Amino acid sequence: MKEILKIENVEKYYGNRGNITKAVDNITFSVEKGEFVAIMGASGSGKTTLLNCISTIDKVTTGNIYINDKDITKLKGNNLNKFRREELGFIFQDFNLLDTLTAYENIALSLTIQKINPKEIEKRVEEVAEELEITDVLKKYPYQMSGGQKQRVASARAIVTKPSLVLADEPTGALDSKSSRMLLEKFETLNDELKATILMVTHDAFTASYADRIIFIKDGKIFNQITKGKKTRKEFFESIIDVVTLLGGDLNNVI
Ligand SMILES: Nc1ncnc2c1ncn2[C@@H]1O[C@H](COP(=O)(O)OP(=O)(O)O)[C@@H](O)[C@H]1O
Ligand SMILES: [Mg+2]
Repeated sequence: MKEILKIENVEKYYGNRGNITKAVDNITFSVEKGEFVAIMGASGSGKTTLLNCISTIDKVTTGNIYINDKDITKLKGNNLNKFRREELGFIFQDFNLLDTLTAYENIALSLTIQKINPKEIEKRVEEVAEELEITDVLKKYPYQMSGGQKQRVASARAIVTKPSLVLADEPTGALDSKSSRMLLEKFETLNDELKATILMVTHDAFTASYADRIIFIKDGKIFNQITKGKKTRKEFFESIIDVVTLLGGDLNNVI
């Protein structure tokens, strides 16, 4: 299988001499095309920092990150913007939809920027909206939607450009359990049917249990990795809880 993402010895420090936080401490792993991978760890373990380095929002201190064999830590200016726009899709905890645009316009925006023709845009937005069951909210503005609907619109926006990699940071963090479950089932569909490669960060075992593989991090380092294999989601959830127990500390408090 083709490697979409390869992370090699990535470190990210904050602060300066005498007062350094190693937010990401020598992390190496890969994600293959079509995988749905979760990174799980307690609050403060470095999940967001790692994801922000991959999404190019933040810069690594040392190490390399390859997406489709291109070292993104070396990209700058317009090349970086173009790369981010064309290769990556983002889903944030707080949705980050534009309040003055309808759901349709939010989803279509990046295609409009890429100057794709309006007929094709319409077709792609409608297709992805149907997949995510948000066809009935396409004309609504974010303030007229529930949290679950907003996050499915944000997911449609992330996927509509057919990015190489979808990055999600605590996507269920602001959702109730019913909306979380529906969103995660949609992630499974995006992964199974649209072959989206997804890297999701979460502190929540239930959310992580929808992934095929989980990388656990603690204090910025990889602690353990487990794969779902032929397990049911419930069995996988139990394996996650076992690792969480091993990890000890904070994580027990947040699930
Ligand atoms: N901009 C920043 N400046 C200084 N320290 C930071 C910054 N962002 C994160 N950190 C620190 O890095 C560590 C990892 O944070 P973060 O990646 O947000 O963890 P998580 O997403 O797992 O909760 C924490 O100790 C946090 O305080
Ligand atoms: Mg975080």
